Amino acid sequence: MARVRFLPDELDVEALADETLLDASIRAGIPHTHACGGNARCSTCRVIVLEGVENCAPRTGAEHAIAAHLQFDVQVQLACQTRVTGPVTVRRLVLDEQDLALVEDEMRKPGIEAVGAIHGKSFDIGIGLHYGEVIVGSVGASADKRRTVVGDAVNFASRIETANKNADTNFLMSEAAYLQVANEVEVNQCPPWDIRGKTGSYNLFEVVRPKL
Ligand code: FES
Repeated sequence: MARVRFLPDELDVEALADETLLDASIRAGIPHTHACGGNARCSTCRVIVLEGVENCAPRTGAEHAIAAHLQFDVQVQLACQTRVTGPVTVRRLVLDEQDLALVEDEMRKPGIEAVGAIHGKSFDIGIGLHYGEVIVGSVGASADKRRTVVGDAVNFASRIETANKNADTNFLMSEAAYLQVANEVEVNQCPPWDIRGKTGSYNLFEVVRPKL
């Protein structure tokens, strides 16, 4: 057994062997929010471990996915997944309807990190930006007609996006695009770059941050 002090309730509870913090809390009559019933899906049972985080067992796989998505600090734990081996002091973080609404909003945000965490993979993104004329129109038969853009500028933007891989960057733009926003963004200029399918070399700019 291990002593768990719950705040703001100021209650000390002896957690039984193999009992989660949530189980111990509910057994003691604490109104601990647990919207998904303890299945590591809602995060409403979250607590912050104020003392004794070293006594918490490592995160379960399900908890790890949520913690990655929501970028939890190591001290923030799901009570429904956490077991302890020694004394801890925790504070419940979802105490009223307002807290609950905030958490639900947070959980609705899509996160590529969450997908990666769930599948045990990491993701990176590459953005290519170009400025030029395109043709906008609808393609396809009536049932699955969709709006699209075509033209050399679209192909060029696509090639720039691909160039991120070899340039080890995430956001590259062409010189034509850079001239449109030169006063707005800080960039690193890349050495002249060969673009697949195009002759000659092109100036590409890595977007670093907006200018303040
Ligand atoms: S009760 Fe839903 S995540 Fe813990």
